[in-house]
Amino acid sequence: MCGIVGYVGERDATRIVFDGLKRLEYRGYDSAGLAVLSDGRLEVRRSVGKLAELERVLDREPPRGTVGIGHTRWATHGKPSEVNAHPHLDCRGDIVVIHNGIVENYVELRQRLRDQGHVFRSETDTEVIVHLVEAFAADGASLDEAARRALRELRGNHAIVLMSLREPDRLVAARLGNAGGVTIGLGEGETFVASDLTAILDHTRTMAFLDDREMAIVTRDGFRCVGLDGTPVDKSTTVVSWDPVAAAKGGYKHFMLKEIYEQPRAVSDTIRGRVNQGPASVRFEGVPWTDAAWRRFRRVLIVGCGTAWHAGLIAKFMLEDLARVPVEVDYADEFRYRNPLADAETLFVAVTQSGETVDVLVSMAEARQRGAKVLAVVNAIGSQAARAADGVIYTHAGPEIGVASTKAFTAHLTALYLLALKLGQARETLSNDQLNQAIQRLLELPHRMGDVLSRDQGYEDLANRYAKCRDFLFLGRGINYPIALEGALKLKEISYIHAEGYPAGEMKHGPIALIDEEMPVVAIAVRDHVYEKTLNNVAQVKSRGGVLIGLGNDGDDTLAAISDHLLNVPETSEHLTPLLTALPLQLLAYYLADRRGCDVDQPRNLAKSVTVE
Ligand code: AGP
Repeated sequence: MCGIVGYVGERDATRIVFDGLKRLEYRGYDSAGLAVLSDGRLEVRRSVGKLAELERVLDREPPRGTVGIGHTRWATHGKPSEVNAHPHLDCRGDIVVIHNGIVENYVELRQRLRDQGHVFRSETDTEVIVHLVEAFAADGASLDEAARRALRELRGNHAIVLMSLREPDRLVAARLGNAGGVTIGLGEGETFVASDLTAILDHTRTMAFLDDREMAIVTRDGFRCVGLDGTPVDKSTTVVSWDPVAAAKGGYKHFMLKEIYEQPRAVSDTIRGRVNQGPASVRFEGVPWTDAAWRRFRRVLIVGCGTAWHAGLIAKFMLEDLARVPVEVDYADEFRYRNPLADAETLFVAVTQSGETVDVLVSMAEARQRGAKVLAVVNAIGSQAARAADGVIYTHAGPEIGVASTKAFTAHLTALYLLALKLGQARETLSNDQLNQAIQRLLELPHRMGDVLSRDQGYEDLANRYAKCRDFLFLGRGINYPIALEGALKLKEISYIHAEGYPAGEMKHGPIALIDEEMPVVAIAVRDHVYEKTLNNVAQVKSRGGVLIGLGNDGDDTLAAISDHLLNVPETSEHLTPLLTALPLQLLAYYLADRRGCDVDQPRNLAKSVTVE
């Protein structure tokens, strides 16, 4: 969604803010803009489209100054256009704002402000914010005081940064609810603001994160935090260990490809320090519960969206099998609206790589209100989900830049598998031997993933052959059914080919009518306890003249005999097969999308973290 960057210091604000916006390009946007305080004037530059457009504008007339803010916009109110791009100015051109979120009551606020004589230039909801601040500043209030009064009038979720000619040494940043994060980065004689810490990682690792209804007055010497009621807030800082180099493409054509190949590393980092063998055990540094507390959970509720939801579906198989605990999995966007049953004996697990997905945050609050204990499985350090949860299992995938989630997905599966082992241990459904064996399989997994990724499985040939297809069907059974869903999601989001995932056994109840030589069917049939059933389902594709891309275990001649093309993975324990079968499907989607000339890292209409409901 939208991206925010701000800078106060001694260096060239235009360059620092622009470079920060470039780091946020992956989040998805349709227009961008930047404002710099320059010799007693507010210089604003905006453009539609990619940041290269804004760069052209900046090259023509570079604003010079050491205090600035910038924004990438993902349109909600008002089409993508220069005039609707942020930053937005007040009537006199003295105050400027950038904003993530939606002002839910903007219609009534705009009317009120128009009646008072304010002139609106854009179609956005955001512009009311800067006019409101202007109205409150008119009686001499300071920027932060005027902002506090204005923000109390807004409905909805917001991340906001303001700058004013009258107080040129500062930015005012605020967070209301969950519209993405507001991170403050501390440097030597310079301070940064960003919606996402990757925007400022090049400059500092010392970060503070604003919570709901907090505001920061940011100067080059640091920041002061207050609540929206004016009470001072004592904010601690965190030193973030993410490496900025990890957020660069490193020789790969796309971030997505690089991130696919990083998966063995992401998985081993997610396991590291959390397992012991011999007397086998699993521990999580961010979860405060004793074994007795883990034992008290009688059921597990998992929520997530998109790929994270697929991870939740796979976790259901892991948890029910290994810990013998009933599990329900919901789309986070549906959970809140179904009057869910949750109580003190419910473990509520929120799965989210960004930790900023509003649907997830809202469902966490709902579960907590019903008495559940909330655990977040999250990749982004310091994100809202991590801070709102009772316990956190961080995945250590590192920054994921490609909009299509790959390494965050397998890191989620790893963390959820560890959760299943932890619960199995606490509930005594796993013996020490079983736990040792499960841990051993997990420790071997990164090596097996590396093996799959190093194989030349003819992805480019497949892409050449099928790039013009309009539809794909993905089939899987049991724990690999969610992988069929994930394979279909990956393909459709980056290649724009329509794809559906189905349980293999369901094909005969409807989708079989679609089978012809125009629609490739990708069937996952690894040697698990439903292998033979799956093979029988898949054979029906061939006997109806369909095109079959089989995905099975090494040396499977039976699957090879009925497949037009074969993709292979080595064997592992059944619960871990999704971490292997996911990989060829990610690569298939990648090469198909690239062959079709799609913007793989920033697919149209999509955003990396979805901060609107
Ligand atoms: C994955 O490839 C998608 N782009 C999307 O479905 C994503 O998984 C979903 O929006 C959830 O995001 P989160 O993990 O940041 O909550």
